[in-house]
Amino acid sequence: MNTLLLPGLIDPHVHLRDPEQTEKEDFLTGTSAALSGGFTTVLDMPNNKTPVMSIHTLDEKIARAKKLTVCDIGFYYGSLGDNLDTFREASQKTKGLKLFLNQTTGNFLLDPSFLEKIFLAWPNTSPILFHAENETFDLALEVLKKIPRPIHLCHLSTSYELKKVIDAKEAGLPVSCGVTPHHLFLTKEDEATLGPLGLMKPPLQSREEVEFLWQHLGAIDIIESDHAPHLLTEKHSENPPYGVPGLETTLPLLLTEVHKGRLTIDEIIRLCHTNPAKIFRIPVDKSTQIEIDPDEEWIISNEHLLTKCRWSPFHDRSVRGRVKKVILHGNTVYENGKILVQQGSGTILENG
Ligand code: DOR
Ligand code: ZN
Repeated sequence: MNTLLLPGLIDPHVHLRDPEQTEKEDFLTGTSAALSGGFTTVLDMPNNKTPVMSIHTLDEKIARAKKLTVCDIGFYYGSLGDNLDTFREASQKTKGLKLFLNQTTGNFLLDPSFLEKIFLAWPNTSPILFHAENETFDLALEVLKKIPRPIHLCHLSTSYELKKVIDAKEAGLPVSCGVTPHHLFLTKEDEATLGPLGLMKPPLQSREEVEFLWQHLGAIDIIESDHAPHLLTEKHSENPPYGVPGLETTLPLLLTEVHKGRLTIDEIIRLCHTNPAKIFRIPVDKSTQIEIDPDEEWIISNEHLLTKCRWSPFHDRSVRGRVKKVILHGNTVYENGKILVQQGSGTILENG
């Protein structure tokens, strides 16, 4: 077997649903899925059923994570503009502030008139992250021009948005951006076969738009899964929620493109390790590594997933390259499909 060693990957965009929606996922199943996908660090979003917008909610979430996680984990704080007095303390306990400028899972839509105040109040030691699409994307960039401070634009999906980021970077603004694997590996045409399983925010785009992202991958900072587990029964209901799981499929999809010559291993390391570590100030431990068999051909299958929701929009897809072993801070924590550590052995990351 050919073995490839990579640094532990970092996914700075996951929704682990814990607490309160643990029928979809919890900190144990979510971080187990992370390890099996080669991710040793995840950063968890604040759009829980009770959004994380107070120190009390944040502390409760962190306390649960301490008992359950099996990889390293950090958190984001949220705001609707009325909790600015808690920002200093919250920023010390999290990796950034996440703002939603478009409607998605959870009741978490920010009135943009609060943006300037929020930009001034959130300490510069961690980024402000945005869920913004098209017009709201412009809005975030306008405020950035007025009040420059690090921001990260999550899951951009169109040439319009990527061109804006390229321009902003050329103008020297402190902006980074991420793209999800589903916006790189699925197109609008897949909606016909996926049905509600292809429903997410932002939505899937045309073939041309997807091709533009691939052509300009150099301008993209991070590949982030936006792991958003929902139950199949919910997805097939009258009012299906937005989102798809992704932690276990990101790396095999990317490794498959390495075989096809569209991507290099160095690009994977840049997008899934070096840049997220730098942007979110995640300490790099050289004894955290993943072992890959780059040649193993296998088929992604719902039955083998560790995520509690147990489905993937990539079910039945042939891929090449598989995570065999994960070593976290010197300990083997995952091997050949099995988690080898106790729940609660993961490290909680604070800002530093
Ligand atoms: O599709 C999505 N699902 N997009 C989001 O922004 C949120 C996520 C979720 O939490 O389900
Ligand atoms: Zn998200």
